[in-house]
Amino acid sequence: MMKRGFLILLLLFFVSLCSPAQVVGFNETVKEKTERMAWWTADRFGMFIHWGLYALPARHEWVKRYERMTDEEYQKYFELFNPDLYNPHEWARMARAAGMKYAVITSKHHDGFCCFDSEFTDYKVTNTPYGKDLLKEWVDAFRDEGLKVGFYYSLLDWHHPDYTIDRNHPQSASTEEEYNELNKGKNMDDYRIYIKNQVRELLTNYGKIDIMWLDYSFPSGKHGKGRDDWDSMNLLKMVRELQPGIIINDRLDLLDVEGGWDFTTPEQYKVSEWPTRNGKKIPWETCQTFSGSWGYYRDETTWKSTKQLLVLLIESVSKGGNLLLNVGPTARGTFDHRVQDRLNSIGKWMRFNSPSIYNCTQAPSEFDKPENSLLTFNPATNRLYIHLLDYPLHRYTLKGYAGKVKYAQFLHDGSEIIFGKPRHNVTYQEERQKDDLILILPVLKPDVEIPVIELILEQ
Ligand code: GLC
Repeated sequence: MMKRGFLILLLLFFVSLCSPAQVVGFNETVKEKTERMAWWTADRFGMFIHWGLYALPARHEWVKRYERMTDEEYQKYFELFNPDLYNPHEWARMARAAGMKYAVITSKHHDGFCCFDSEFTDYKVTNTPYGKDLLKEWVDAFRDEGLKVGFYYSLLDWHHPDYTIDRNHPQSASTEEEYNELNKGKNMDDYRIYIKNQVRELLTNYGKIDIMWLDYSFPSGKHGKGRDDWDSMNLLKMVRELQPGIIINDRLDLLDVEGGWDFTTPEQYKVSEWPTRNGKKIPWETCQTFSGSWGYYRDETTWKSTKQLLVLLIESVSKGGNLLLNVGPTARGTFDHRVQDRLNSIGKWMRFNSPSIYNCTQAPSEFDKPENSLLTFNPATNRLYIHLLDYPLHRYTLKGYAGKVKYAQFLHDGSEIIFGKPRHNVTYQEERQKDDLILILPVLKPDVEIPVIELILEQ
C-alpha cells in the first residue's frame, strides 16, 4: 500500500515537471512566454514618464511624504494643475527620435492623483483646471508615433480614505497606538476593490496596452504592504484576462509564484551580470532617471552625461536586458531643456548605431571582452558589436578572435576596418598569439560619442 502511494507521488512529481509553466491567469509554456515578450526583448529601449501633481512643487514625486504634507496642504497643486503646453505628440516624437520603442506613463502615482478619467474617484485630472483626460491624449499620440504603450499604476495611495497608514505614508506614526488610532475605520477591502476597478478601467478604456507596471510592495518588517494587501493573485489574473498579450513587471510581491511576473526591475543601479532566478537567466529591465528623482525636480543637479547614459543602455543590452529611461515633465507639460539635450544626443548616436542595440543580447562566451569595451551580439545576423568606450590607438588586438571573423567595419558609416599583420622591429618583437586578430583603426577617433565596430562572424 505504502509502495503504491509512493509511486503515485513520484508519478505526480514527474507530471509536474513535464507540464507547461503555469502562468497566473492562464496556462503558458516557456516558449509561449518568450514569444509574448519577443517585441519587448528586441526593442530594448523605452521611455518612462513620471507626471502628476508633484511636477508643481518640482522637488521629488515623494514630496508629500518627505514633507509630511496633509491632503489639505497638497491640495493647492490639484487646484493649479494646468499644463498649458502639453503636447504628447511632441513627447512621442522626441522619444522616437532618441531611439526609444516603447513608453510607460504614470496613470496614478503614490500621491493617489489619477491622470485619467476614472469613474471611481474625484481625485483626477478631469477635475483640475486642465479638465481633460491626459492619458487618453498620451496613448493616442504615442501609438500614432509607432511606440508601444504601457501604464504605471501605484499600489500605494496616499489619498484614498481606506488606504491604511503604513510606514511609507506621509502620516506614518511612531507607535502602535498611533497606528491603531489613525487606521480606525479604514477598510482595505474597499481599497482592494478600488485598485481592481481602476486597473480594469485602464485596461478596458484605452485599447491595447502593451505593458502594465504595478508599483510596488514592501512586505518585510512592520507596517509594510504586500500580496495580501493588494490581493495580488487576483489582480494579476484580472490583468491577464483583460489583456492577454500584456507584459507585467515584478512588484506585486509574487516573485516566488510561477508566472507571477514577466520581468524583473533593478531600479537605479547597474546589474553586475544577467540576473538569474533558480539558476536561469530571466528577462530584466533597469529603470533609471536622468538625474536623481522621477518626477520633475527643478534644483536637482546630478544629471548623467550623454556618454554615461549610452553606456547604461549598451551595458544593459550586453547583459541581456532593457533600459527604461525616465523623464519627469514640467508642470507646463514640457520636457526640461536638460532632458531634451540628452535625448537629442542619444538620438544622434542611435540614428547610426542602433543595430548594436535592437535585437541584440549578450555575446557568446567564446568572445572575450577587449579592455574598455562592451560587447553585444545579434544572433539572427551573427554579428558582434564592440563598443569602444575609450578609443584605442591604431592597432587593436582581439584575443582569440582569429578565424572567427569574416569582415570588420565601423557601424556608423559602414567603412571597412582592415586586418593587420604582426609587427616586428629591432627593439621589440611583438609576440603574436596565433589566435589573435589585429584590427587597424584610424588614429583619429571618428566623430561618434562611442564608436562601434561591427564584426561579421564566420558561420
Ligand atoms: C520607486 C519609487 C517611485 C518610482 C519608482 C520607479 O518605487 O517609489 O517613486 O516611481 O520607484 O521605479
